Amino acid sequence: MVLEVEVERILPGGMGLAHAGGKTVFVALAAPGDRVRVNVEREQGNVLFASIQEIITPSPVRIEPPCPYFGRCGGCDFQQLTYEAQLAAKSEMIRDCLHRIARLENIPEFVVTPSPDDWRYRMRAMWQIDQDKRTIGYYERGSRRVCDVVDCAVLRPELQAKLEEVRATEWHQFPPDLKHLDVVAGENGVSFAPAFANFETRELSLSVRGEVYHYNAEAFFQINPSLLGPLIDFALGDVSGESALDLYSGVGLFTLPLSRKFKKIVAVEGNPSAVGFARRNLQDAGLTNARVIAAGVADWFRSTPVRDVDFILLDPPRAGAESSVIKGILDLHPPQISYVSCDPPTLARDLRKLIGSGYQIGAIMGFDLFPQTHHVETVVRLTA
Ligand SMILES: C[S@@+](CC[C@H](N)C(=O)[O-])C[C@H]1O[C@@H](n2cnc3c(N)ncnc32)[C@H](O)[C@@H]1O
Repeated sequence: MVLEVEVERILPGGMGLAHAGGKTVFVALAAPGDRVRVNVEREQGNVLFASIQEIITPSPVRIEPPCPYFGRCGGCDFQQLTYEAQLAAKSEMIRDCLHRIARLENIPEFVVTPSPDDWRYRMRAMWQIDQDKRTIGYYERGSRRVCDVVDCAVLRPELQAKLEEVRATEWHQFPPDLKHLDVVAGENGVSFAPAFANFETRELSLSVRGEVYHYNAEAFFQINPSLLGPLIDFALGDVSGESALDLYSGVGLFTLPLSRKFKKIVAVEGNPSAVGFARRNLQDAGLTNARVIAAGVADWFRSTPVRDVDFILLDPPRAGAESSVIKGILDLHPPQISYVSCDPPTLARDLRKLIGSGYQIGAIMGFDLFPQTHHVETVVRLTA
C-alpha cells in the first residue's frame, strides 16, 4: 500500500510520526516536516510501518546523508537530519517519554549537550561477520544480514584503521565460529574480543577528569569519550555524605569520582571482567573506601540487608532496572538518586515508580553520546 503523508515529529525509537485515514503511520528515516510518499511494509493494529518511496517536499532540516551505507546499514538512522535537528529530536523524545510514560506534568527545562565531534567519535563497536558471504560490518536495518562496510564514518580514525586491518585479514585466520567482534579503543591502542590472528584482547587506559580507567573489549566502556567529563560532573553534581551505591558500575567510571566524595562506596557489577578492572582502577588510584561486588544488582538486593545510604547512582543497560531493583532502592530511600540511562522509555518507566513513591526531579540533562543515531544518554537527578 502506498500513502502520501506529512511527518509530524520524530518519536522515541527514531521513527517519524504521521497519520493517514485514521491510522498512525511510523515512517523510517524521516525528518519532521517531510511530505513523503511511503510504502506500507507492515500493519500492526492501528499502526502502519512504512518506508519512504519518494520525498515530495523535503523538511527544512533534511540533509543528504553523507554515508553510502545509509538506509541499508542498521547503524545510523539520523543522518538525514541536520545535527541541530538531531539534538532537537532527542530533547523531544526525552520529553515525550517523561510526559507519556513517567506521567510527569511539570518537566524541568533541560538541554541535550551536543557531542564535540558528530562524526568519527565512536571508540567502541561490535562488528558483525558473515564468513559464508565474506562480509564484515553491521546488521542491515531490520535484518540479520551483514551490511559489508568498508568505511564507517562514525568510527574514530584508530578504529577505522583496525576495521581495514580486520577486513584485509585472510579468511582462514578467522576462528570458524566467529560471528561478531567487540572492539574498543583507548589512549594506548585498540582491544578486540575475542582475540584472533594479530588482534589481541589488550588492556587499554583512558583518563577522564584526572581519573585513569583501565579496561578491555570484554568489559563495558562508554562509546563516546568526549562527553564523559560533563556526564560525570552532572550525574554527581554536589552530592555528598557518608555512603553511596554505584549500581551497574562497569569498570568504575562513576565509582572513582564517588570515592572522593563519600566515605564509603559499594559498587555492584555483573560482568566479572569489568569487576576486575574496577577493583584494579580503584587500587591504582589509591582509593580504599570502595568495595566492588561481583553480582547481578537484583540478586545483590535480594541477599543484602537494607542499610543507610545517602546517594544511589544507577546506570543500567538499555532494559532499565529490574522492578526488584527499583523496590530495593525505594526500601533504602536515599535522599538523593542519579539515574543515568541510555534508553528514555525504560528510564521513564522506572522514574514513574520513583516519583510515585515521593521522589522529585531536581534536574535533567541529555548527553548526545551517539550522534547520527536516535540514541541519547539522559541523566535525571532526584531528591526524596
Ligand atoms: C550502561 S553500562 C554502565 C557502566 C558504567 N556505569 C559506565 O558508565 O561505564 C551497564 C553496566 O551494567 C552491567 N550489567 C548489566 N546487567 C546487570 C545486572 N543485572 N546486574 C549487574 N550489572 C549488570 C553491564 O555489564 C555494564 O557494565
